[in-house]
Amino acid sequence: MANQLLRRADCEVDFNHHSPDYARDPAGAFHRLFLKCPVTWSSAHCGYWVVTGYTEAYAALQDDVLFSSAYGVSVPPQLRKASPIDVDPPQHQLYRQALNKGTSPSAVRQMAGQLTEWAREAMDKVAREGGGDLVIDVAAPVPAKAIMAMLGLEQDSWHRYASVWYELFAHPMDKRVYDELAYIWDEIHDKVRERRANPGSDLIGRMWSTGLLDEVTRNRPGSCPAEAEQFSRGFVSAGAAAEGPIEEGTHTAMSLLGAGVDTTTNLFSSVGLWLAEHPDVRSWLTENMDDTSVWDHGVDEFIRYFATAPALARTVTRDTEFFGHWLEAGDRILISFLAANRDPRAFDRPDELVFNRSPNRHMTFGVGIHRCLGSHLARLAFSLMLRELLTTLPDYEVLADQTEYYEDRANIAGWSKIPIICPVSGSSRA
Ligand code: HEM
Repeated sequence: MANQLLRRADCEVDFNHHSPDYARDPAGAFHRLFLKCPVTWSSAHCGYWVVTGYTEAYAALQDDVLFSSAYGVSVPPQLRKASPIDVDPPQHQLYRQALNKGTSPSAVRQMAGQLTEWAREAMDKVAREGGGDLVIDVAAPVPAKAIMAMLGLEQDSWHRYASVWYELFAHPMDKRVYDELAYIWDEIHDKVRERRANPGSDLIGRMWSTGLLDEVTRNRPGSCPAEAEQFSRGFVSAGAAAEGPIEEGTHTAMSLLGAGVDTTTNLFSSVGLWLAEHPDVRSWLTENMDDTSVWDHGVDEFIRYFATAPALARTVTRDTEFFGHWLEAGDRILISFLAANRDPRAFDRPDELVFNRSPNRHMTFGVGIHRCLGSHLARLAFSLMLRELLTTLPDYEVLADQTEYYEDRANIAGWSKIPIICPVSGSSRA
């Protein structure tokens, strides 16, 4: 059977999603692969399949038995554990049962007033100062404060908690980033431990009150409280902890923090940069801000186009045919949400922002059991921040020659620096 199928050599490409070439233009790099074949093979990082077609990506993401997340969702696998994203069924369901309620549309709607207030506060400050950085001053505060509030963490230290994720991708080889991650790990570890006796209703609390942490660590080393305590004291660096319930809670909270901070910030940053280059669209959006239909389609189209988590991986669990290719157990497969969103077989004019696109079945938040836990928060926060940007900083300009994108854009197509200036009279709010 395997003989009738495409061999790896037939669809081999020169591709590395951690390379500077890819970082310059992730969508373009994926598109070149797509033109060769929607499923290709790269020999970088010990070899991996790259899926760039919509139908192919959808099929892989729906099949969580054949395509496991348990060996990590990056190529190469990262050492840090990141539950629930790297947990397979049946345990995965326990995480979602514990966490879904706190991130549901109704839970998120209740935060709308607070999200707007945070956005206004940040942007008013930039308007008063006549400029700042679109990433850390404008885009970062709301997503960081929002996920910290959801977890039940104090929002005062949002800047420190947010910066570490940008630094991780902007300067992945800098040891100081890992020291900082270890510091934050320790703080969250203490919070998770404290909350055991008195959980409350936030996400850390729900991990205890639903029994999640005890259940998923029941048979692991370090799962008896005394033993877990010893392990946690021996902890030396992020990701090196033993797997007691407190450590599991810390991994999960860290993972939610990283996912909550970096993704929405970079979606917003990319859109802010694009709007600065397209003043006509900026004016049109401002004029139509109160037309729900225009606005909602526009928000979804930005989310499709700038799929800020461009691709994540799975591991093949048994030999199988997959769209004319022979995959072997243990093969790694990188599935691109960004490329799927630009597949011309699935979207008309995929490389354009078509603001009345409908339907818009983009894959930016994933598909299947691992579909983004924070999608409702991300969409609402992004929409409110965009509204606030157009109102409070109507004339911002980007210092285009000073922008910097992440050195490594494999996991997040992000920006480390987008300096902006605004006329001092900035705010157009009455
Ligand atoms: C624009 C913003 C965002 C984008 C583009 C994004 C993208 C994604 C994608 C593509 C997945 C699927 C992962 C997979 O299939 O392996 C995912 C999962 C996840 N996202 Fe998001 N995300 C965003 C915002 C957020 C926020 C604000 C949170 C905070 C709660 C969050 C938390 C998570 C978690 C915990 C998962 C894993 C879910 C699971 O495995 O069941 N994300 N996200």
